Amino acid sequence: MAAFNEETTAQNVIDALGSEAVGKTFVITGPSQGGIGASAAIYLAKGKPERIILAGRSQDKIQPIIDEIRNIDPAVSADFVSLNLLDRDSVRKAGEDIKRLTSDGISALINNAGIMAVEHFTKSKTGVEAQFETNHVGHFLLTSILMPEVKKRKGVVVNVSSLGYMYGGAWDLEDTDFQTYDCWEAYGRSKLANILFGIGLSKRMSAFGGAAFSVSPGFIPETKLLANSDVSEKRLTAAFEDATEKNGGVAPVQRVATIEQGAANLIMPALNPDLRKSSGAFIVECGIGSVPDWAGADQAEKLWRLSEKLIDQEVVV
Ligand SMILES: NC(=O)c1ccc[n+]([C@@H]2O[C@H](COP(=O)([O-])OP(=O)(O)OC[C@H]3O[C@@H](n4cnc5c(N)ncnc54)[C@H](OP(=O)(O)O)[C@@H]3O)[C@@H](O)[C@H]2O)c1
Repeated sequence: MAAFNEETTAQNVIDALGSEAVGKTFVITGPSQGGIGASAAIYLAKGKPERIILAGRSQDKIQPIIDEIRNIDPAVSADFVSLNLLDRDSVRKAGEDIKRLTSDGISALINNAGIMAVEHFTKSKTGVEAQFETNHVGHFLLTSILMPEVKKRKGVVVNVSSLGYMYGGAWDLEDTDFQTYDCWEAYGRSKLANILFGIGLSKRMSAFGGAAFSVSPGFIPETKLLANSDVSEKRLTAAFEDATEKNGGVAPVQRVATIEQGAANLIMPALNPDLRKSSGAFIVECGIGSVPDWAGADQAEKLWRLSEKLIDQEVVV
C-alpha cells in the first residue's frame, strides 16, 4: 500500500486506491464549488463509483460539480439533495431523500459541510449555537438517519474536523449556551465535537464491521470558509495566541495545503482498507494524528449523550 503524507493529493489517493471506489456509493455534505468537499467528490468520480450524492444548501453552487462528475464519467450517478444543517426538518427530509437513493447502502458518508467563526452569537431554529449545530448536531442527526444504509455496506463515516479544535481548549461539554461567546472558541468546540463523534461512532460501528474517522484537511485559505466568516485578521491573531495558551504553549499550526491535498484527507480514510484497524483515529496530513488526553473515550460518550439530548432522540447504531 502506498505511503501517504502531507504532500499527498486526492489524485495520488485515487492512483493508489481508486479500485476501492469501484461500484460504491458516497454521500458528501457541503460540496460547493471551490471547496474541499467538491474536490473530494470530483476525485472519487475518477474511481468509477456507482453513485455520488452531493447534499448541500445551494444547488447553484453544487450543480457545476455534478456537471463535472458527469463529464468525468457519465456512468456515475450524481444527485443533488437539499440539506440545511441549521434546520432539523431539512436534515430529516434530506436523510429520507438520501435513503431513497441508496437502497443498496452507503459505502462512505463524508460529513464535510461547515461554517467558521460566526462573529456574533447566533442560534439555530432549535436554539443551539450555530457553529455547533451546523458542524456537529446536524451531522449527528443526519448520520443517525443514514446509519442503516451505512450498515448494509459495512461503510465508513468521515467527519471533517480541523486542528482548529484547539481554539476550544479542554471543553467540559457543559456550557452549550455560551455565557460568554467567543466565535473561535465556538468553532473549536464544534471541531472537537467532530473528533469525539468519530470516536463514539467507531466504538459502535465496529459491531458491524464499519469504521469512523475524523480528519483535518489542513489550512486551505483558497476555499470560501475564511471569506464566508466575518473574522478580522486582528481577531484571528488574538484567537491563535489564546489557543496556544489553552494548549500549554503548543500552537495550532496547520501547514498551508492546496484543495487537492485537503481533499486527500477526506477520501483516503473513505477508501483505505488498511486504515480500518485504526478506526476512530484523527487523520492529519494523511497520517494518524494525535489528540490530547481530554479528547478521549469518556468525552466521546458525554458528547453522544449531549447530542441525543439536543435532538431529543436516542441514537442506537
Ligand atoms: N479551509 C480550511 O482551511 C479548513 C481547515 C480546517 C477544516 N476545514 C473544514 O473543512 C470543511 C469544508 O470547508 P471548506 O474550506 O471547503 O469551506 P467552504 O468552501 O466554505 O465549504 C463549506 C461547505 O459547507 C456548506 N454549509 C455551510 N453551512 C451549511 C448549512 N447550514 N447546511 C448545509 N451546508 C452548509 C457550504 O454551503 P454554501 O456554499 O451554500 O455556503 C459549503 O458547501 C469544513 O467542515 C471546515 O470546517 C477547512
